[in-house]
Amino acid sequence: MRTITVVGARPQFVKAAVLAPVLARAGIADSIVHTGQHYDRNMSDVFFDELAIPEPAYTLGVGSAPQGQQTGEMMSGLEPIFEREQPDCIIIYGDTNTTLAAALVAAKMSIPIAHVESGCRSFDRSMPEEVNRVVTDHLSTFLFAPTEVAAANLYAEGIRDGVHVVGDVTIDLAHATAERLPPAPSILNRWQLRRGSYAFVTIHRAGTANDVVTFEGIVGALRQLGMPVVFAAHPRVRPMLDAMGAGAPGDPIIVTDPLSYIETIAVVKNARVVITDSGGLQKEAAVLAVPCITVRTTTEWIETVRSGWNVLAGTDPEAIISLAHRPRPDTPLPYVADGLTAARIVNALMASRAPLKEIA
Ligand code: UD1
Repeated sequence: MRTITVVGARPQFVKAAVLAPVLARAGIADSIVHTGQHYDRNMSDVFFDELAIPEPAYTLGVGSAPQGQQTGEMMSGLEPIFEREQPDCIIIYGDTNTTLAAALVAAKMSIPIAHVESGCRSFDRSMPEEVNRVVTDHLSTFLFAPTEVAAANLYAEGIRDGVHVVGDVTIDLAHATAERLPPAPSILNRWQLRRGSYAFVTIHRAGTANDVVTFEGIVGALRQLGMPVVFAAHPRVRPMLDAMGAGAPGDPIIVTDPLSYIETIAVVKNARVVITDSGGLQKEAAVLAVPCITVRTTTEWIETVRSGWNVLAGTDPEAIISLAHRPRPDTPLPYVADGLTAARIVNALMASRAPLKEIA
């Protein structure tokens, strides 16, 4: 069996890192295509190096552009590659413009699509990611849902065939990575942080980061938390943070470039609270038993909220400040990592090998 994995943005590198060795062990010849949606070293290369992801066979170098242009350039780069490689299936992850571009091209070429992290919904179509999720799922052949909730979302949209509840590769990886961390990771010394005494923050989504007033309100709240704040700044928000004097002497906010995956897990695991608009971090905080505040009004990871480990604060500064000091939940964690998600995905692909083209 020959597959093509299409990645392009940070969270996809992490997910591909889990699947790549399992595909290889199963004898599946997988070629990676990197669209170049994320291209800075600390948004891309560092993940390939640290997580030992196989070198991409193709890199498209698309880079930043308005969403239509970005998606279109990815599509025209992917089409000749799919044509040349004639894969039995393409593998795509999550909800980015890279995911959507690959799904559109493959679907029109009748190439089966395996969508990992299928069925997640925030029910907020003003998010570009939600549009990407819905369209991708309706084009996919294999819908690898991380949870029963995600599978139920697919059924509710009339998708019945090809749904497999397999678990979550990011939960498996976060758990395995945290297990291997030393008790006092050296990255905490970089900022003289004590375990359990600081907030870890990432904010980058268009809905939160493109409005300066909203962003300034959030940063104002972070300054009033009464604890050090490590803000790992996506390039989209770095200029605003700099303009606001974040990270200047005396400021409680420590601004850092995006962290590597292992650094992120180390900083999350030892944080008192995580404050984020990222999807992945909400789950990682829950796996690592760290309370999370999500700076959005919706989440596609509803089980983190139902369990009490995550709360939706919206972008209201007062809500962020008061929730940061809420007592630690004593409820069970929403996720159990068994380390077998990738194996279940590969088993499902192998099991339906013969009719792959027919069921596309
Ligand atoms: C994308 C995904 C989002 C995911 C996030 C992870 C979409 C619609 N969104 O958002 O779901 O959570 O990746 O990080 O696909 N930039 C750089 N260097 C880089 C990458 C980006 O400077 O290496 C800057 C550019 O100014 C760019 C902006 O970040 O315009 C936004 O990048 P983009 O790829 O459009 O979306 P993300 O916000 O990263």
